[in-house]
Amino acid sequence: MKERKTKTICFTNNKGGSGKSTACANLAYELSQAGKKVLLVDGDMQLNLSLSFFDEEKVLEMAESEKNLYYAVKGKKDLKDYVIATPYENLDLIPSSTLMSQIEYELFTMMQREYVLKKCLKGIYEEGEYDYILMDAPPTLGTWVINILCTADYVIVPVEASPWGLFGLANMFDFLRGMDEMTEAKVMGVLITKVDERKNYYKQTREILSGYESIHVFDSSIHVDTSIEWAQDASVPVGVYKKSARSAREFKELAKEVIKYGSR
Ligand SMILES: Nc1ncnc2c1ncn2[C@@H]1O[C@H](COP(=O)(O)OP(=O)(O)OP(=O)(O)O)[C@@H](O)[C@H]1O
Ligand SMILES: [Mg+2]
Repeated sequence: MKERKTKTICFTNNKGGSGKSTACANLAYELSQAGKKVLLVDGDMQLNLSLSFFDEEKVLEMAESEKNLYYAVKGKKDLKDYVIATPYENLDLIPSSTLMSQIEYELFTMMQREYVLKKCLKGIYEEGEYDYILMDAPPTLGTWVINILCTADYVIVPVEASPWGLFGLANMFDFLRGMDEMTEAKVMGVLITKVDERKNYYKQTREILSGYESIHVFDSSIHVDTSIEWAQDASVPVGVYKKSARSAREFKELAKEVIKYGSR
């Protein structure tokens, strides 16, 4: 099979609040700043990825229109027609809708229900305009997340450096292994997030993760940084909010790792 030019990376962890949407938005921004053409797909009804680039009013307007991921998947439409430009060069978005809460139900009666999203992206893959597609997933492991995994080349798993951060992770890797025959997606790496230097969970987390053979852990990790919350409040990437912020520099480093990984 001919290799697709566009690399698709999804952010998955069934543990909520592990930093998926934050990592997806900020890595996408830094990849675009590095000259890569990036498309974001907001796969979560919480709309957090869309809110990372547009204010609440605009996000709700998109969510209530018919030009969002929910209607595209429900109607098996070509997602090319659902792309909107973000305020940043090289960075586009397919917005989500709160109706995504019903997507499991919609998929249930569809033929080949695990591959609906992949088919909706066919036109975009064929055009090959994007270097990367980055997809944010909800904190679940149902048919919708399987759809995301079935079109992904790589999975990035954000894990919070906290006592419960790793809880359930083994289950998730089992789940991914169980999908071996459905997808070629492989784990690009685990990203340790919300690192707090006053506590020693970071070291613990890295040590435990090093016990997972064949699972790569990114050298870059993301510290707790209030600039992230301020940036999210302003609907801008942290690199735009404050270029010198620690987390902005960390996401820049992560982008370098991801680009390097792709060129191996
Ligand atoms: N490095 C960080 N420093 C400070 N706050 C952070 C950091 N990363 C994430 N957060 C905050 O933690 C919360 C959860 O992050 P985020 O929404 O990215 O997680 P998630 O995995 O996408 O959550 P969900 O599972 O609900 O989709 C958010 O309020 C976000 O602002
Ligand atoms: Mg999220």
